[in-house]
Amino acid sequence: MKNIILIGFMGSGKSTIGRKLSEKYGLKHIDTDWYIEKEQNMKISDIFSKKGEEYFRNLETECIKKLIDRYKDNIVVSVGGGLPVKDVNRKLLHTLGTVVYLKAEVSTLENRLSGDNKRPLLKGGDLHGKIISLMEKRQAIYEQTSDLIVKTDGLQCIDVVKIIKEEIDNENIGN
Ligand code: S3P
Repeated sequence: MKNIILIGFMGSGKSTIGRKLSEKYGLKHIDTDWYIEKEQNMKISDIFSKKGEEYFRNLETECIKKLIDRYKDNIVVSVGGGLPVKDVNRKLLHTLGTVVYLKAEVSTLENRLSGDNKRPLLKGGDLHGKIISLMEKRQAIYEQTSDLIVKTDGLQCIDVVKIIKEEIDNENIGN
């Protein structure tokens, strides 16, 4: 089966849905944040604070390149929310597999992300404003990069998995 890649804003459910989707198909699941944390033996927030965002973005590009070399098919990959922003990464994502955008309204994201302290770009108050301003820069990118858009507001993870699975099984995507 062609690799499936999940993109979307922080809090859109990429990691959870990625895991559930991979279980459904018996595939391996890789999350780029976890991959980078393990490889660097550092938390994402420490990489940001000690090495800077640009360093992290380069690690993301390297990560996708390694996945392309290593896995031609049969994996589900959930990627960090900012990874598709870099031009080169968008091309690499399409080489790696079929791209699915997990779309969510700002209010949904805000609910899911309130109280979060793991994500460096959301630190320091005014969560709403931070989500809005990042989303303004990213929404069109997510939409243009994806082969399939799934609106996740009000849905349980299991429903989202069902929608993606139907699209794959009906061969609307993933060929
Ligand atoms: C980021 C999203 C995070 C992580 C880092 C930066 C972003 O991943 O890669 O904190 O720029 O949107 P999640 O989308 O899995 O939270």
